[in-house]
Amino acid sequence: MKSLVVFYSLEGNTKLIANIIAEKLNADILELMPEKVYFNSGFKKFLWGGKSVIFKEKPKLKNNEINIEDYKNIFIGTPIWVGTYAPPFNTFLDMYNIQNKNIGLFACHGGGGASKFFKNVKKKIPNNNFIGEIDFFEPIKNDKDENIEKAIKWIDKIIM
Ligand SMILES: Cc1cc2nc3c(=O)[nH]c(=O)nc-3n(C[C@H](O)[C@H](O)[C@H](O)COP(=O)(O)O)c2cc1C
Repeated sequence: MKSLVVFYSLEGNTKLIANIIAEKLNADILELMPEKVYFNSGFKKFLWGGKSVIFKEKPKLKNNEINIEDYKNIFIGTPIWVGTYAPPFNTFLDMYNIQNKNIGLFACHGGGGASKFFKNVKKKIPNNNFIGEIDFFEPIKNDKDENIEKAIKWIDKIIM
């Protein structure tokens, strides 16, 4: 069963976890790359990113198309923006017909948690088997090694 880790990351936290998961599973990895990059510092970071969530933008992606049917397990990783997934996933989740997959959800956040992200993905792509969900509080800044260990243990638990 082939696995895919698809993620977006503005500041590297979600990328850190995505790489650990992909390595552990020997999975293909897809980093969503908006054509127009989001500001990654200062006030504009929150302003433009926040506006993009609120207006439900679907930023154009630079990525080549993939064949989603190649994969049985799909891991979806995002930073939490305004409580939910970052807008590159508005584009991704509309591009592909994701059904009958095993789905794992992971998120990095600044302390607010990820429950709305989990709920929103399940609502957006309901016809799947959701095998696990996990969140990390800015793992680069907050005990990186412990967070890496947490990601590995999570994979061990959900993939037999
Ligand atoms: C536009 C924007 C909105 C954010 N909204 C939230 C939020 O609602 N709750 C939260 O806990 N963190 C929020 N954050 C913080 C990020 O989720 C957090 O820093 C995360 O670790 C970043 O992951 P990344 O390094 O993969 O981009 C927000 C960050 C940005 C840029």
